Amino acid sequence: LTLRRLIADEPEMTPAEALADVDFAGNAPADRPYVVANMVATVDGRATVAGRSGPIGGEADRELFHRLRTRVDAVMVGSGTLRVERYGALVRLPELRAAREEAGLPPLPLGVVVSRSLDLPLDIPLFADEESRMVVYTQSDADLPECGAQVDVVRLPAGDADMVAAMSDLRAERGVRSVLCEGGPRVLGALIRQGVLDELFLSVAPKLSGGIDEPTIVTGPPLPEPVALDLVWALDSRECLFLRYAVRR
Ligand SMILES: NC(=O)c1ccc[n+]([C@@H]2O[C@H](COP(=O)([O-])OP(=O)(O)OC[C@H]3O[C@@H](n4cnc5c(N)ncnc54)[C@H](OP(=O)(O)O)[C@@H]3O)[C@@H](O)[C@H]2O)c1
Repeated sequence: LTLRRLIADEPEMTPAEALADVDFAGNAPADRPYVVANMVATVDGRATVAGRSGPIGGEADRELFHRLRTRVDAVMVGSGTLRVERYGALVRLPELRAAREEAGLPPLPLGVVVSRSLDLPLDIPLFADEESRMVVYTQSDADLPECGAQVDVVRLPAGDADMVAAMSDLRAERGVRSVLCEGGPRVLGALIRQGVLDELFLSVAPKLSGGIDEPTIVTGPPLPEPVALDLVWALDSRECLFLRYAVRR
């Protein structure tokens, strides 16, 4: 058994350079997209400070967050996160839209929302954005009013395999080969429980949140057994630690 010191004098790179060679879509299985999640946590393992994730990360974390969006066909988020974080168009900066186009992707990823109730925060900027295309997966038969964004509502069968069904629909019906899930903790828990998470990008910010009401990055019903992960890389910005894990199959 040996230990390696991670803080070393390796050549430095930007977040864009770190992600330049990733090929999520190329690793997609036949029946669903390749699914990666990106989360940020405090050193005490909390996914929020006073109910928000914004205060946790720093500049490097935000850059990686936005750069990951340039590498995928679709960005997925739970209705809880959509509501709290008040999402807007998924890629706004021309430079990031250009990075997507250079990678052979459309300027904006498909937005994917999962909601059991279909009680969505329709007043957030994302739903008003006429350039954005979204698909909402739900088990509800409620109606969703028209909004500025182009939104498809897909009704899933009742049951506990909703993430599997949503991923299968994304691949078969929409040609989506890579999905970035940005949380929240309950949706991430469901992806893991249903066996459709491939990778986790975890930023560990040098802060303590405290408080029993701040969730960890994975919540919801317990996992049947601990899920083993393999460390793919560990980077640091002298502030935040960036861990990339593959879910062991
Ligand atoms: N640290 C981070 O990286 C990070 C990332 C994202 C979010 N957050 C924080 O996490 C909090 C929100 O997280 P959250 O866990 O409450 O919400 P969430 O995971 O974003 O969304 C949960 C909602 O997803 C819907 N859903 C659909 N299928 C589901 C399934 N199979 N299992 C569970 N939920 C399903 C339900 O919507 P309906 O209620 O509409 O039926 C449920 O209420 C916010 O405070 C946000 O700031 C932190």
